[in-house]
Amino acid sequence: MSDEHVESMLKVDEVFQPSKDVIERAWIKDYEKVYKHSIENPETFWGEIAGELEWFEKWKKVLKWEQPWMGGASWFVGAKCNITYNCLDRHVKTWRRNKAAIIWVGEDGSERIITYDELLRNVNRCANMLFEIGVRKGDRVTIYLPRIPEQIIAMLACARLGAVHSVVYSGFSATALQNRIHDAESKVVITADCGYQRGKCVPLKNIVDEAVKDCPSVEKVIVIRRQEPKIKLEPKDIDWHEAMEKASQKFEPAVMDSEDPLFMLYTSGTTGKPKGVIHVHGGYMVGTYITTKWVFDLKDEDIMFCTADPGWITGHSYIVYGPLLNGATIIFAEGAPDFPDPGRWWGIIERYGVNILYTTPTAIRLLMKYGDEWPERYDLSNLRMLGTVGEPINPEAWLWYRKVTGSRLPIMDTWWQTETGMILITPLPCTKLKPGSAARPFPGIEPMIVDRNGNPLPANEGGFLVIKKPWPAMMKTIYKDPERYAKYWQTINGFYIAGDVARQDEDGYFFFMGRADDVIKVSGYRLGTAEIESAIVSHYAVAESACIGKPDALKGEVIKAFVILKQGYKPSDFLLDEIKKQVRKELGPIAIPAEIEFTEWLPKTRSGKIMRRVLKAKELGVEPGDVSTLEE
Ligand code: WTA
Repeated sequence: MSDEHVESMLKVDEVFQPSKDVIERAWIKDYEKVYKHSIENPETFWGEIAGELEWFEKWKKVLKWEQPWMGGASWFVGAKCNITYNCLDRHVKTWRRNKAAIIWVGEDGSERIITYDELLRNVNRCANMLFEIGVRKGDRVTIYLPRIPEQIIAMLACARLGAVHSVVYSGFSATALQNRIHDAESKVVITADCGYQRGKCVPLKNIVDEAVKDCPSVEKVIVIRRQEPKIKLEPKDIDWHEAMEKASQKFEPAVMDSEDPLFMLYTSGTTGKPKGVIHVHGGYMVGTYITTKWVFDLKDEDIMFCTADPGWITGHSYIVYGPLLNGATIIFAEGAPDFPDPGRWWGIIERYGVNILYTTPTAIRLLMKYGDEWPERYDLSNLRMLGTVGEPINPEAWLWYRKVTGSRLPIMDTWWQTETGMILITPLPCTKLKPGSAARPFPGIEPMIVDRNGNPLPANEGGFLVIKKPWPAMMKTIYKDPERYAKYWQTINGFYIAGDVARQDEDGYFFFMGRADDVIKVSGYRLGTAEIESAIVSHYAVAESACIGKPDALKGEVIKAFVILKQGYKPSDFLLDEIKKQVRKELGPIAIPAEIEFTEWLPKTRSGKIMRRVLKAKELGVEPGDVSTLEE
């Protein structure tokens, strides 16, 4: 571990009390009272929140939960709804009709403003276009797009007609995309000719062409052509703009059961195969709606800038669904935070008068590296609320984030996961803040720190984070893999096991310490060691590989790979480079190891499982813990 990193883990004892005006404005002024009510009367609590939204038919029961297998939890049983009705129609019926829903900013400063009414009409057109080519309720559609408004339009159009969207991050390679299309058996893929990143045009269509070659389920590929001259289309392809032009702007939202799937999103776990996490219309809608509203204290006059990519869960819940359910205006930006210069995001905040900024610790550390002079150049006085997500935030980054935005703003350090769908552990604007802590559970959520057997641990002792009871936006299942889903609940006492290690201090504040399993967070991106290893092993010269997450001052963690070469191959810079290329080809640039070490030995259990924990301990120069199962 570098000195810099050790320093960044220093404890900061300072506690920040919320200011009077923050509490006065907040939706929730008394956290303890609301929390107590939510735990004592969960069904009343969630039922009241659901009542703020519109349903085609009301539920017969808020929650049906069959212990001990919690897979049996159903929310808003018997209710009928469509999440897009609440994201769009509900607002278009009111004065919000002509309010900006999306302000899109391109890397070159170009801008598109889309009102709620316009968004609804575009979503309807897109739903008609999909219907026309045979997409029906329950069908899967893969969306492989850069951060442009069409990404959001396509997601909402699928939801409107009852199809299940599977958004794949546009940084994934053809092989990774193909695996995801294949597993989902998608009927249609929606893509663009290219995305823009750091002034460069990143081609996407060729990646899709390569990916769909061996995907017989794919009948059509819809292509958004941004460049001139326009790229050539294949017989399977449809031009987005032409088809949208022809499509009607009216489309009745499909009547969905509360428990019908809304989307699937692939995420990394402990095996090489990513899992398709399924979320449903009803519960996900209620969970994302209320967390966006209460955590960020979102009001009608607010402009929210969430810097995530809808290729990941944060973009689904806090760019698309949560803010639109609340009728908010979102800033949606393509490109990097530091291109053309490190003032890019600060400039966007000034230009549009952004009120809420939600980003990752890695981005904050990156901007911190460029120094205070960049935020100082801009008027950030409209900012009212800050948020972070995706990985633990070190106190220095937390303090810097607060300092450069005016030393007065609350920071919501939000803990949650693809599987949880919504924020579960977080401060609310009215709670006191401790730098580096995600504070307390959101109302209705009962987390606990326990040992392997489910016994609660005393304050400040690190252990497994579990959630005792179901919550509305929890995943419904893992696509085609109910057993993998059941494992989340069966590992410890029928509680939901998150896979994170955390401690709770004497005030009940949660401090996250990292993952308990083989998931790595690189710049907040979630990757599994097993999938990186299988990419490495697919290289012709590699016999075996083991990957670990190594602490990094900027990215939180970076990947370090240990590689055993096949007989007859010798370590060389050439092979090093080749292996990196192989990972890029199999997964994408985000998965490329920062370090590769050639070795002749890997620590294994007697049954042959690689003990990555031993490698990690050795790397960090700490005791490896229990090694009794290590082979001789
Ligand atoms: C980590 C991202 C510490 C955690 C929304 C979790 C965090 C994983 C925080 C889920 C936070 C997320 N503090 N760690 N505030 N937020 N994590 O599915 O390890 O991409 O299990 O969802 O990110 O990653 P995922």
